[in-house]
Amino acid sequence: MGKSQNKERATFGSKLGVIFASVGSAVGLGNIWRFPYETGQQGGAAFILVYLICVLILGIPLVMAEFYLGRRSHANPVGAFRGLAPNTKWYLVGLMGVFSGVMIMGFYSVVSGWTFDYIFQALTGSLSDKTPEVFQKDFTAFSTNIYKPIIWVVIFMIITHVVIISGVKKGIERSAKIMMPMLFLIIVIMCIRSVTLPGGEKGLQFLFHPDFSKINSNVILGAMGQAFFSLSLGMGCLITYSSYFGPNVNLGKTAVTVALLDTMVAILAGVMIFPAVFSFGISPTQGPELVFITLPNVFQSMSFGYLWALLFFLLLGIAALTSAISLHEVTTSYMIEEYGLTRSAATSFVTITLIILGMICSLSVGAWSKFTIAGMNIFNLFDFISAKILLPLGGLWISIFVGWIVPYNDLKSELTNKGTLKFYGFNFYRFILRYFAPIAIILIFFNELGLISLS
Ligand code: PHE
Repeated sequence: MGKSQNKERATFGSKLGVIFASVGSAVGLGNIWRFPYETGQQGGAAFILVYLICVLILGIPLVMAEFYLGRRSHANPVGAFRGLAPNTKWYLVGLMGVFSGVMIMGFYSVVSGWTFDYIFQALTGSLSDKTPEVFQKDFTAFSTNIYKPIIWVVIFMIITHVVIISGVKKGIERSAKIMMPMLFLIIVIMCIRSVTLPGGEKGLQFLFHPDFSKINSNVILGAMGQAFFSLSLGMGCLITYSSYFGPNVNLGKTAVTVALLDTMVAILAGVMIFPAVFSFGISPTQGPELVFITLPNVFQSMSFGYLWALLFFLLLGIAALTSAISLHEVTTSYMIEEYGLTRSAATSFVTITLIILGMICSLSVGAWSKFTIAGMNIFNLFDFISAKILLPLGGLWISIFVGWIVPYNDLKSELTNKGTLKFYGFNFYRFILRYFAPIAIILIFFNELGLISLS
């Protein structure tokens, strides 16, 4: 047990704190940047449908499984597996999670940096009086610039660093509680504006009228990957957070609440973006820049647009920050508990590593874009490997571990808070972990590799 089973760890201050910290991790660029661009590239409504199914039948059960692992072990992902299955190789699953987190942060910090630049642009008035084409050109010029995006990466990472170093309770809880509801509200307002734009109906059609012929192995893998990415699932982030949960937190209810809020924000982000995409003649398959070239047009069509833009990108920046904190915290808590580093040493080490990776990813969009592996630049490669391979793979091992290795009574006792809560359908839940989830994930992988054909 040793260092990894630290009973004196901090816990979140209140029940609401638990939910907000987890929602803070889940809701971020994944919902507002990645979900729309994946939806756009994968054909719209059919992708969303598969996505919703993935959240419901894989996402929620696996979020609960991670919550179980974290609160039961009170440890970081590596320590959790070490504590629950000593002297086995299971800790490697935790290690893979730490690795995935570092990889995700590589491109996450770049997109967060883009968000910060837009806050700055809104402040200085350069987000208005332009045609859709000019917005697009300006974004490309900015994102392929060598220095500017990197400066923002550094600024973003320093802010993340400061929040992390101030400790779990104060830093994370405080930031998530006020900002999340505000972001939600402003997205709703922007949805209304977007839907009422001329030609906006086409966007809604794209989002909600599924064309089932579009479902293929790529779409299914993409939807599963997006579900994992958006729920912060499969890399131990939720293990780390739930290791700070108090004994009275209802794990099942928290999992459902987090998934529900996260999914709502993603769908609303779609409603905010696609009517505008069609109205302004932007291509839905644009890729990672979609949100950044679409939204300025929407703001421009609103009265006091620059103020809305400022508020929106500020809140999006904060949502990105609360997710980045959770990604950073996985590696940091691992370094502290497994190597005995002080919090400030561990945090500094991780921050510096992430800044270097961020720089590499940022350069790969511009100056180094000629360097590709399997047709992808490093930015896209990191995204692909983490979201579409490592996170589902992590989920696969987690479902096998919690379904097969963890004793029945132990799982039941933790999920029912020692029998004080009812858990109807516990056996069905365990069935999902033992059979359904692993088989589904394996089939989706095989299908993508072309070994079998589901569609
Ligand atoms: N869920 C976060 C988002 O949607 C990203 C994330 C992925 C955070 C994995 C932690 C772990 O932006």
